[in-house]
Amino acid sequence: MNAPNAAPPSPRFVFDDGAAYEQMMGRWSALVAEPFLAWLALPEGLAWLDDGCGNGAFTEALLVRQRPSSLVGVDPAPAQLAFARQRAGTQGVRFLEGDAQALPLPDACVDAAVMALVLFFLPDPAQGLRELVRVVRSGGTVAAYHWDLAGGGFPLQPILDAVHAEGHESRTPPSTWAAALEASEHLWRAAGLVEVQTRQFEVRRRFDTFEDFWRTAYGSPRLRELFASLSPPALQRLTERVRTQLDPAGREPLVLVARANAVKGRRD
Ligand SMILES: C[S@@+](CC[C@H](N)C(=O)[O-])C[C@H]1O[C@@H](n2cnc3c(N)ncnc32)[C@H](O)[C@@H]1O
Repeated sequence: MNAPNAAPPSPRFVFDDGAAYEQMMGRWSALVAEPFLAWLALPEGLAWLDDGCGNGAFTEALLVRQRPSSLVGVDPAPAQLAFARQRAGTQGVRFLEGDAQALPLPDACVDAAVMALVLFFLPDPAQGLRELVRVVRSGGTVAAYHWDLAGGGFPLQPILDAVHAEGHESRTPPSTWAAALEASEHLWRAAGLVEVQTRQFEVRRRFDTFEDFWRTAYGSPRLRELFASLSPPALQRLTERVRTQLDPAGREPLVLVARANAVKGRRD
């Protein structure tokens, strides 16, 4: 499956606040990390790459669960890396600024390479895959998870739905097509990986109040940009639409559900 060529080029998403990212998405990613790593079923003590490591949310879970012999995290966003470097749980991780499509790493240097919530941000996911395959040793694992965007599994989907219902537009990541299970599987096979498998994971997160959830949206560069462009009454209308959509009775706490599509394969 090729990328649909009708999509207009999107401006790059820049994650410029690691602490806000933690509330918005890092917590969600850590929820997927547990079942995802269990599914990979890899032994402790391997050399790992966390590609698009962001603020280190998945990196920390990886370190705790897998006790790697080495772990390198790569991300292009300095603010994310700054947060990742000061996390209590990422001691010993080597964080590098770089692009998944041209990794700043030598060939065959890790046993396992993972992209957590990254693939659909790459303008060229197939090139990102080629780079993962290049840096993984023969016999090693290449894996990823990404939100089930087409199936409504994105944690902030209720907000996007309300944004569209109110007639506003929000930017979309450049390669949302790659988040579908079939597209991921095809990318993995096309990159020459073997024993390719896919799986879907559902996770739940509790918010004591609606406001707790709403505040997390400000960690999203595209939503923050959109909110800033709205008049106060328009922003209020949007907020109330999301509140009603989530629970017309306004019951709290809220328990929200998200779904991630995962894929794994082995380098021959
Ligand atoms: C949704 S965040 C995921 C972060 C982290 N992996 C996690 O699970 O929380 C997406 C990350 O992809 C990074 N990213 C965007 N374009 C990238 C690229 N070309 N190469 C590597 N990472 C990229 C962003 O900077 C951001 O930190």
